[in-house]
Amino acid sequence: MNVLAVCGAANKGRNTARMLKSAFDGAMSAPGAVGEMVYLYDLDFKGCTGCHSCKLLDENKFARCAMRDGLTPVLERAIDADVLLIGSPIYFSDVTGETRSFLERYLFPGITYNKDRTPTYPKRTKVGWVFTMNAPGDFYKDFFGGLVDMADRIIGESEYVMAYQTQQFEDYSKYAATMFDVDMVKRRHVEQFPEDCKAAYEMGRRLAGCPGGREGPG
Ligand SMILES: Cc1cc2nc3c(=O)[nH]c(=O)nc-3n(C[C@H](O)[C@H](O)[C@H](O)COP(=O)(O)O)c2cc1C
Repeated sequence: MNVLAVCGAANKGRNTARMLKSAFDGAMSAPGAVGEMVYLYDLDFKGCTGCHSCKLLDENKFARCAMRDGLTPVLERAIDADVLLIGSPIYFSDVTGETRSFLERYLFPGITYNKDRTPTYPKRTKVGWVFTMNAPGDFYKDFFGGLVDMADRIIGESEYVMAYQTQQFEDYSKYAATMFDVDMVKRRHVEQFPEDCKAAYEMGRRLAGCPGGREGPG
């Protein structure tokens, strides 16, 4: 059981990385699981350049990203993973740029422009998404649903967990940020965020085939 967690958040101590680590720990609790957590912001890489090498009818090039940079070994491990966990905060109604660049390079070689659209990767990988955000719970439901559908089609069975109305600052009084209900955000951070991490842990266990675990939202 190969587990790979890909963290698309810049800060290793904050909401997304912590919640993704819980999902990773859950998956790693499966008997025989081996894996690692990688942080995209530690790597030097770019998004897809549209070179189309991965679409060439050439067995050495087909379904592989031709770009060679810090992401190359991560892509190889992702293709070989049984469970892939992807964490990102929501930035401007999307995943972070680093996460997006990773997804372009991972997903594009996984499909063709053939009429049947058959996925190209040799095995199916279960995908667990971890999202954190300021907005209320169902604000990005359609966006998350779209990512889940895309992963289902190209990579393998997919689901997500999320933490919403997360704590962004320790001391809100030091920032230009009067729109937040600080008491509510702080209360959620103490009471709800540990529950969100537990849900992430259970998702990791579920994806790794462990029995039990309550269902996530998607
Ligand atoms: C550049 C930037 C853009 C953001 N855009 C959004 C957004 O569009 N919607 C939202 O709900 N939260 C947005 N947020 C808030 C973060 O998604 C949220 O605080 C998240 O939990 C941060 O994750 P972290 O604690 O792992 O850094 C944004 C934060 C930053 C820094």
